[in-house]
Amino acid sequence: MYSTLITNLENKIFTITVNRPDKLNALNQTVLNELSSAVDKAYSDTEIKAVIITGAGEKAFVAGADIAEFVAVQDDEGASLAKKGQEIFFKIENCPKPVIAAVNGFALGGGCELAMACHFRLASTNAKFGQPEVNLGLIPGYGGTQRLTLLVGKAKAMEMMMTGIMISADEAKALGLINYVESPENLLPKTKEILNTILTKSPVAVSKVIAAVNAFFDKQKNGFDEEADLFGSAFSSDDKKEGTAAFLEKRKPVFK
Ligand code: COA
Repeated sequence: MYSTLITNLENKIFTITVNRPDKLNALNQTVLNELSSAVDKAYSDTEIKAVIITGAGEKAFVAGADIAEFVAVQDDEGASLAKKGQEIFFKIENCPKPVIAAVNGFALGGGCELAMACHFRLASTNAKFGQPEVNLGLIPGYGGTQRLTLLVGKAKAMEMMMTGIMISADEAKALGLINYVESPENLLPKTKEILNTILTKSPVAVSKVIAAVNAFFDKQKNGFDEEADLFGSAFSSDDKKEGTAAFLEKRKPVFK
């Protein structure tokens, strides 16, 4: 179905694997277009309750935008190239179902940006993170200047983007860029374990957590107003009726 992705739906979890291992899963236009339609499917397919994004092979999650493709892009097309990537990554960030990045190797440039667009990240011990665009006379263009700053703070983000250095998975964890470091074998099992916990919770409430937390980062929105509105709509949901009744009846909730 896709030429650059492998997708798999198992136990309600939709795994999207970027599959260009010979090019370290670099994001060319085909990958971006296919990623966009795979995320559309995650939004619309009611069988899908959660998403994992990962990379094929043992070496890379995604080693960046496809540098070879940049050469063919006209000088005045850079901004629209960035906007297109940003829109796809916004779609990932605002997905009402949890999206976790399982970072299995290099997450550089657009790869680090892709991981940061996910709701949170786990990485394997061999993962490396960086925004090396400065080496190419460029800056991050798929949201990296904004999301890296929010995740690791201004000083470290400035250092990483000005020097282009790569950091290890342990450093990324210490900085708050990723939540867990796992052995390569345990990366997907641990990611699924976390998602399986989330899948026992109210999907209505989980989607509202995503929207409310994202509102913190949205300069057009007042996060507190957004939280109150989302709390209000959760309050009238069937899941809230079931969750509160189950607690009071000392039983496990069954969310629809
Ligand atoms: N775009 C296009 N091709 C890429 C790529 C990218 N971002 N990253 C890696 N590749 C390709 C290489 O060109 C090479 O292809 P080839 O075998 O046809 O020559 C293949 O993937 C393997 O990469 P290679 O560089 O040989 O592996 P390595 O282990 O020596 O180095 C990296 C790994 C990640 C350090 C190195 O590939 C690299 O620096 N990549 C670019 C990272 C980057 O700048 N990303 C930001 C882009 S905006």
